[in-house]
Amino acid sequence: MTQLLITGGAGFIGSHTAVVLLEAGHNLVVLDNFDNSSPEALRRVMELVGSEAAGRLRWIEGDIRSRADLQRAFAAAPAPIEAVVHFAGLKAVGESVAEPLRYWDVNLSGSRCLVAVMAEHGCHTLVFSSSCTIYGFPEQIPINEMAPVAPINPYGHTKAAVEQLLADVVASEAPELARWRIARLRYFNPVGAHPSGRIGEDPLGTPNNLFPFVSQVAVGRHERLTVYGRDWPTVDGTGVRDYIHVMDLAEGHKAALDVLLAEGPQLLSLNLGSGQGHSVLEVVRAFEAASGRSVPYEQLDRRPGDAAITVADPSLAAERLGWRTRRGLEEICRDGWAWQSANPDGYDSPGSQSSG
Ligand code: NAD
Ligand code: WQD
Repeated sequence: MTQLLITGGAGFIGSHTAVVLLEAGHNLVVLDNFDNSSPEALRRVMELVGSEAAGRLRWIEGDIRSRADLQRAFAAAPAPIEAVVHFAGLKAVGESVAEPLRYWDVNLSGSRCLVAVMAEHGCHTLVFSSSCTIYGFPEQIPINEMAPVAPINPYGHTKAAVEQLLADVVASEAPELARWRIARLRYFNPVGAHPSGRIGEDPLGTPNNLFPFVSQVAVGRHERLTVYGRDWPTVDGTGVRDYIHVMDLAEGHKAALDVLLAEGPQLLSLNLGSGQGHSVLEVVRAFEAASGRSVPYEQLDRRPGDAAITVADPSLAAERLGWRTRRGLEEICRDGWAWQSANPDGYDSPGSQSSG
């Protein structure tokens, strides 16, 4: 049993990872300001894992940019925090173009503040949520970790900057005195939901990303999907992505923590993806099959800033973590639909509040 701090643990990926880590027997303190999430997600995490494991979860409402809030989170743990899984941050590409200062503040300053407080507490193990977005327009598919880091928007710049900050922290230590154990996990396109349908992705406002939009069309919240592009050099002219089930991703975090805690100081940089690409129209068809609903769409021009294809080479993660994805597109759509159909308006759906 390890005492962990999970920043952003009420969010989409954080809540699913919390389930996996609680089920693995760990103690968790979640620090989240609920800027893009709801405490209801954490109540449902508790309900899913059962009362014994639920007793090992605490949460603090607070901001990673606040030293005082971070100190409160460290003080809330019943035992010294041994490792941090750092999800908290802002992630919308378009918003980052409109509000770059906010993105640099939350993503970079927040991460800097977290690392400084960790060091004060003698906690040197960190798993960081990075993104395939740092590769920008990839030169080679599949993308391996040696590909150039060349982000093309402010969100991507902040992720690359935090990756650099972490590398600088590791490099600052003399090898014989090294303490930091850091994993920079570069997620591809996380989608799907817990198979129970009790927790899932709950974007504020109109979704920018394909999956939540498709599932909101299927449930009747939007009339039709806009498919961006019909002339990409792909199987059917639409963009191809590497969609990863959020439960596979959650298990990837557990695997990374296990490796960091078992091995010595190091800096890991790993792609977390399936290695499989699917086009937009393949996703639409798979979602229709899983939901039994139709997903009408219209095809428009390409979306600015999109690449034709992004697919991970996940072999390094398999080698270093002994981890690979186990769930395919069908399961992604089935579980995504279980969540969307039971919670048409996300955590605000009528009658959706947990009783406990
Ligand atoms: P999310 O928005 O659902 O979760 C982020 C959580 O962080 C939310 O609960 C939010 O309230 C919290 N948060 C935001 N600012 C905070 C602050 N200043 N202090 C404390 N908490 C704060 O997003 P997610 O999809 O779960 O993503 C988690 C992480 O993974 C993010 O860092 C994101 O950039 C990264 N990532 C996400 C994707 C994706 O497509 N979902 C892909 C690659 C990387
Ligand atoms: C997927 C495909 C679109 C919406 C984003 C971030 C990236 C990372 C993962 C955080 C593309 C097409 C989309 C729609 C569509 N997140 N599409 N109609 O752009 O690969 O990656 O999430 O780190 O940084 O940029 O994901 O889901 O937006 O798009 O046709 O309404 O679906 O053109 O081909 P993307 P996405």
